[in-house]
Amino acid sequence: MTATVPIRLTVNGRLRALPVAAHHTLLDVLRDDLGLTGTKECCLVGECGACTVLLNGRSVDSCLVLAAEADGGTVLTVEGLAAGGRLSALQQAFLDTGAAQCGFCIPGQLVAAHALLAITPHPVRAEVEEGLAGNLCRCAGYEQIIEAVLRAAAGQAAEGGAGRRAHARPDPAATPDAEVAPQ
Ligand code: FES
Ligand code: FES
Repeated sequence: MTATVPIRLTVNGRLRALPVAAHHTLLDVLRDDLGLTGTKECCLVGECGACTVLLNGRSVDSCLVLAAEADGGTVLTVEGLAAGGRLSALQQAFLDTGAAQCGFCIPGQLVAAHALLAITPHPVRAEVEEGLAGNLCRCAGYEQIIEAVLRAAAGQAAEGGAGRRAHARPDPAATPDAEVAPQ
């Protein structure tokens, strides 16, 4: 029988209390227990950044954090970036620059970029490169990703396209996260 431990997490602004297997990672719990599949599972050894989330404001590889270690913490996943069902300026910039190709790395890239901009609101290119150094893109869309972050930082996300798009999606604060998960 698998030993479980009770944990409490605030995930994208919602308090979640649940028992988790002692050996399960934060990634396991986000995807399998909470249905937040925007956070991707790939290398599982901290190499690719696909599983990046913010834990207590810090960017972490959720595949390397035991869920029990995160007990009491605050987690932001890619689903939490679209407050009120509206894409953030950063997400819109990724769309406008065509940064998402296959899209697999994009949730991690977005969360890492969100963390970067929270600390360095107006980064130069080298700072963006360094901030995203832990996030690999097999489609090699690095130029568009970097451009997107720089555009968002410059407040230009609404330019050069149809503008910021409102989505008729439910308020995530009032709806289970799994129902508003983008993928
Ligand atoms: S899946 Fe966590 S770093 Fe690759
Ligand atoms: S868009 Fe395909 S891995 Fe980055």
